[in-house]
Amino acid sequence: MDIITTPIYYVNGEPHIGHAYTSVLADVYSRYNKLFGNDTVLFTGTDEHGQKILDTSIKLNIPVEDFILRNRSKFYELNSVYDISFLDVINTTNEDHKNNVKNIWDKLKANGDIYQGEYEGWYSVREESFVKESDLINQNGTFVTKDGEIVKKVTEKNHFFKVTKYKNNIIEFLHNNKDIIFPRERYNEVLSFINDIEDVSISRSKTWGIDIEENETVYVWFDALINYITIRDRNNIQGGFTHFIGKDILRFHSVLWFALLFALDEPLPKKLFVNGWWTKDGKKISKSLGNVVDPFKLVDDYGLDVVRYFFCKNKIGSDIDFRDDLIKETNNFISNNLGNLVQRVLTLVLRKKGSNILIPGDYTLEDTNLLNDSYNLISDCKNDFPNINKIISNIDDFCGKCNFYINEQKPWAQEDDRTNTIFYVLINSILNISEVISPVMPSTSDKIKSFIKKDNNGIFVEKSEILFKRVGV
Ligand code: MSP
Repeated sequence: MDIITTPIYYVNGEPHIGHAYTSVLADVYSRYNKLFGNDTVLFTGTDEHGQKILDTSIKLNIPVEDFILRNRSKFYELNSVYDISFLDVINTTNEDHKNNVKNIWDKLKANGDIYQGEYEGWYSVREESFVKESDLINQNGTFVTKDGEIVKKVTEKNHFFKVTKYKNNIIEFLHNNKDIIFPRERYNEVLSFINDIEDVSISRSKTWGIDIEENETVYVWFDALINYITIRDRNNIQGGFTHFIGKDILRFHSVLWFALLFALDEPLPKKLFVNGWWTKDGKKISKSLGNVVDPFKLVDDYGLDVVRYFFCKNKIGSDIDFRDDLIKETNNFISNNLGNLVQRVLTLVLRKKGSNILIPGDYTLEDTNLLNDSYNLISDCKNDFPNINKIISNIDDFCGKCNFYINEQKPWAQEDDRTNTIFYVLINSILNISEVISPVMPSTSDKIKSFIKKDNNGIFVEKSEILFKRVGV
C-alpha cells in the first residue's frame, strides 16, 4: 500500500494558501496513483502541541483546548472545501497518539537512543526549533531570525535523541536512493548538511504537549513526526510512506525522521515531495508575516477545480509568487481550452442530433489520428507521472488538438454521416479527457461524465452546461 501524507498543520491560526497547496498536491498525487492502479491511502491531520499554540491562545485569552478546537475545525473545513480525499485525519492531542509517543520514547530509551543532557541555544517559537547563532542577526545585542523574530536564549536540562548514531545509515540510504527526495536540488541540500548533524534535544521544560519524564514535555517536532506511525497503525495499514512537505520542514523530515525510523527498525519512506513556497511580493506567505491569501475566498472566486488546476500546473519545488491576474489568466485559459471544447461539442451534438446515439461511419486519417491520440492520452500521462505539471500540459495540448480538429472538420457544415463520425471521435476524446483530469479536477470530470452516456448501444449526449465561470482579467 502507498501511504501518502500531508504535513500536519499547526492550529495556531487559520489555514492559508500554503496549507491548501500542500494538501492539494498530496491529494492529486494520491488520486493519480490510484488511477494508475496502485493501492493508495492519504492521511492528513493537525499539529496541536507546542509553545506557539500555547502562546497564541494566551494572547487571545482563550483556553488552549478551546482555541485548538476552533482552529482545528477550520482545517477540517479546508479539507472539505478542497475535496481532499483522505482515509483518516489525526490530531496530535488524540489519546492513541500520545500513548504511541510515550511508548516510542520508552523503547528508544531502553535501546540507549535517548540520554539526558543540557542544552543552551537560541529558540525560535515561530519555527519551534533551535536556531544556530550563525543564522541569526545581531541587532544591537538583540538576536533576531531572518524573518525578524526575536529569539530567546534557553538553557535547560533535557533529553537528547542520538541522531548521530544513525548518521552512517542515513548517508548510505541517501546514496542508495538518489531519487528519494524530489526535486533533486532538495536531495543535494540534504547531502550538504548531513555531515554536520548533531544529536537533537527532544524534550523541553514542561509546556503544552505530551508530558514525559519528571518535569518535561516531548519536543513538538518529535511528537509531530510520530503522527505518521500512529495514523498508519491506527488504520492497520502496511506500506511505504510518500510525504508531501514544504521546503522549510525538509530538515526535520530527513535527519530527525530518518534517524527515528532507523532507531525503530521501521521502513524508510519511499519518497519525499518538497514543495516551494507561495510568496507575495517575494515574501513567504505566512500567518506571522500577515500577508496571507485566504484559500476559502479563492474557491469562492474561481471555483475549486480552477484553483486545484492552478496549484498543479507549476513544477513541484519552485516558489510561486501569488498574483490575482495569474489565477485569472489560468481561469480564462481553462475556460477557452477545455471549457470551450466540451461546451461547444456537446451543444453542437444536442443541436444537430438531439440525444440520439452516435454511430461512426468511415474514419479519415484525421479522425484516426485524434482517436489514437485520445487513447494514448492516459498512457502518456501515466508515463509522465509523478510530474503532475507535465500531465496537465499533455491534457492542455490534447484539448488544443481537439479544438483545432473541430475548426478543421467543421461538423456543422457536413452531411449527416460525416457529422456522426466527427461527433463520435470528439465525444470519445472528451470522455478520455474526463478520465485523465479527474485527479486534478474531480467535480469537472464528474460533470462531464454526467453529460455523456456510453453503453453497449453506443454514445449519446444528455445535456450540456458551462464548466467554468468566467472571471474578468
Ligand atoms: N506542524 C508542522 C508540520 C509537522 S509534519 C510532521 C508545520 N506546520 S505548518 O502549519 O507551519 O506548515 C505546514 C505545511 O504548510 C508545511 O509543509 C509548510 O511548508 C507549508 N506552508 C506554510 N506556508 C507556506 C507557503 N507560503 N507556501 C507553501 N507552503 C507553505 O510546519
